[in-house]
Amino acid sequence: MAAISLAGCELGVATAATQIEGGNADTNWHRWAKLPGQVADNTSPTRAADHWNRVDSDIELLQRLGVKHYRMGLEWARIEPAPGVYDTAAIDHYVDELKKLKAAGIKPLVTLHHFSNPGWLESTGGWLKAHTIGVFERYVHRVVEAFEDLATDWITVNEPNVYALKGFIEGEWPPGRKSLADGVKVMEHLAYAHIIAYKLIHDMQPAANVGAAHHLRVFRPAQAWNPVDQASSAAQEWLFQSALVRAMSAGKFLPPFKQPKYIRPGRYYDFHGINYYGPSEVHFLSNGAGKGVPVNDLGWEIYPQGLAELAKRIHKAYPGPIYITENGTADANDSFRPLFIFDHLKAALESGAPIARFYHWCFTDNWEWTEGESARFGLLGLDYDTQERVWRDSAAFYADISANNGVTEDAYTRWVASRSYRYS
Ligand code: FCB
Repeated sequence: MAAISLAGCELGVATAATQIEGGNADTNWHRWAKLPGQVADNTSPTRAADHWNRVDSDIELLQRLGVKHYRMGLEWARIEPAPGVYDTAAIDHYVDELKKLKAAGIKPLVTLHHFSNPGWLESTGGWLKAHTIGVFERYVHRVVEAFEDLATDWITVNEPNVYALKGFIEGEWPPGRKSLADGVKVMEHLAYAHIIAYKLIHDMQPAANVGAAHHLRVFRPAQAWNPVDQASSAAQEWLFQSALVRAMSAGKFLPPFKQPKYIRPGRYYDFHGINYYGPSEVHFLSNGAGKGVPVNDLGWEIYPQGLAELAKRIHKAYPGPIYITENGTADANDSFRPLFIFDHLKAALESGAPIARFYHWCFTDNWEWTEGESARFGLLGLDYDTQERVWRDSAAFYADISANNGVTEDAYTRWVASRSYRYS
């Protein structure tokens, strides 16, 4: 039987402001894209999917997909273009978008921080500085006040581990630092900022539903018998995700983090957001895809069962509803994406973990950070020159799942059965 039922799990799609809006806000990413050689195809977020000017037609597409939920990000630099100066026109634009989503019967899940900072904040040290936590709190206050009850589902911070790793340890993302100590500091500050925002939003909104979007991976030693690989895999897992999830969910900051003076252990989540893309095979200090495994256009290993393992693990450690806040793949030709969606949805639903929502990453092709326009993650394709949205088979398949509250035998036969993965 290929059919699967969504049961209580509701579908959505996810986006991030810098990746879809377009425009010239002064962000760390707009600055970074101007530096030669930083973005694979030399594109910048200025074009992206021009969503800022296409809110109405994009909401029509969301309705055509039949999704109940839409995860969207806010561009902090638009909202607060200079320290303490708020742009009411930008805030009104988001308020208007939220009203339109409401009218369309689609529930927003709003991300407050998704990798992008105002340029002025970056210039004064950004997340390396503890001071930024208070600046973030002020921005969150302004946003929650302005949105009133139009948004009650919130993601405070997206993937603090990836942000810290890429920007502060590996140096491939802004601000391009290469220091483990800096990376640890940044994660600590973002975890602290999450807790502050969690508390603030609850103080302001009785109906608030707040969590973070954690990038989680399954770590495994390349050579199962090799004690060096075993130790490195365990250390990377702790540093990259376990210690951070503990700090953010339970307010317990264990080494390498320091317990912030004003944070007490407690429960700082209403749901767990899991962003899942694949596993990490660890050999000494390196970490990547295994050999002879299914891979996507970027060489990322495809391992659907990992999503089930992580959902079970997180629910056991910190019980509560789970939202898959991102899951998707780079597949420019849409050759295996329907199979990827089927396999991951099935693994998640059969895991036994309480998965209440599943957001596909991404709604459309977009501007994929340092991959620029070269990595295609959309259910819908995008012609960047004309901004035409292309209804891929994956979109048709997803719409069918929404309409039937699951994958029917017919849908499986039509969109999934004949597809297969490429192997590394
Ligand atoms: C995640 C990010 C998201 C997108 C996907 C492919 O790590 O949260 O913005 O880049 O990867």
